[in-house]
Amino acid sequence: MLNRRLHLMALAAATLAAGAAQAQSDTVKIGVILPMTGPSASTGKQIDAAIKLFMAQSGGKAGGKKVEVIVKDDNGTANLTARMAQELIVNDKVVAIAGFGLTPLALTAAPIATQGKTPMVVMAAATSAITEASPYIVRTSFTLPQAAVSIAEWAPKHGIKKVATLVADYGPGNDAEKFFVDRFLLNGGQVLEKLRTPLRGADFAPVLQKVRDAKPDALFVFLPSGQGAQFMKQFGERGLDKAGIKLIATGDVTDDDQLNDMGDVALGVVNSHHYSAAHPSAMNKKFVADFEAMNKFRPNFMAVGGYDGMRLIFKGLDATKGAGGDALLAAMKGQLFESPRGQILIDAQTRDIVQDIYIRKVEKKDGQLWNIEFDVQKAVKDPGKTK
Ligand code: DHB
Repeated sequence: MLNRRLHLMALAAATLAAGAAQAQSDTVKIGVILPMTGPSASTGKQIDAAIKLFMAQSGGKAGGKKVEVIVKDDNGTANLTARMAQELIVNDKVVAIAGFGLTPLALTAAPIATQGKTPMVVMAAATSAITEASPYIVRTSFTLPQAAVSIAEWAPKHGIKKVATLVADYGPGNDAEKFFVDRFLLNGGQVLEKLRTPLRGADFAPVLQKVRDAKPDALFVFLPSGQGAQFMKQFGERGLDKAGIKLIATGDVTDDDQLNDMGDVALGVVNSHHYSAAHPSAMNKKFVADFEAMNKFRPNFMAVGGYDGMRLIFKGLDATKGAGGDALLAAMKGQLFESPRGQILIDAQTRDIVQDIYIRKVEKKDGQLWNIEFDVQKAVKDPGKTK
């Protein structure tokens, strides 16, 4: 405990020195920590690709300074995230840390951002409470309550009265289950089973058998990015679709990173999320075309969180003329701009994102699978915030 306190004091002292160094230099650095390897590697791949696109488009300059991005691979392992956050702040003297592919990784970095007085941009992780873990956190991804409440509103109006739920057993899964179930019950629905799978190495066969036996109208699912294709395959193999059980989900399951490989079992799945690669705005069409030209794969919601996170930092640096710390944090609060997903706002009070949530259906167009938006709830604040 004492050791940790000493360590944090050293970090605070180093941060003061870092502030002075930042003010003098013509280059500012942004530290990005991502799972480039391990089970969440697709999240790292997507965000890294989006950052490269943003850097190419922006010319890599903000606030009159050259911006250098340092990407570190934490392999989805929290103790590596913490060490890398420390090193980036103390040794590399970055103006901001960013990335954070999973909730536990964001939570482990939060006190380091606070002690280092360094803005921390959460580009991926989506448990509601993350923004409360440090006053230096701003978020450009989404929250599970945002997504889950919207589909819980849609379902009972469309013949779905009895459901089972299935979520990954950790922060965002807890949020998805709670906010889906509460709203669905409020709307007169019935919840037959609440099922969980472990975050790592999920085999869905046992829970899918329970769902089959319970015979709900629909199964609601949240799984983190990267698990959707495996789940969908087993849902089909176990014959749940043929047994007349509909699938509804957050858009993490019908993830654009994997959607095209899921096959016909995914067709017709209704889901809610903040970003679809098929979003029909001019800005998004250009974003998808440029991203695919550069990277040879389709961007997903993680890519957009990374792209917008860079935009947020760059606009902030423009306002502070390249200064980091509290000035940069202040310059990020309240930012409003058009993203490939639609208009977004960083709520100045909560530092969380306010955005449109779309209801989408998986459809085949020109031989490819897409999440086609057909309904929207505008400017959704995180329902998980109490204030
Ligand atoms: C989280 C991770 C994901 O891959 C996702 O799709 C949603 C949430 C998380 O750990 O917060």
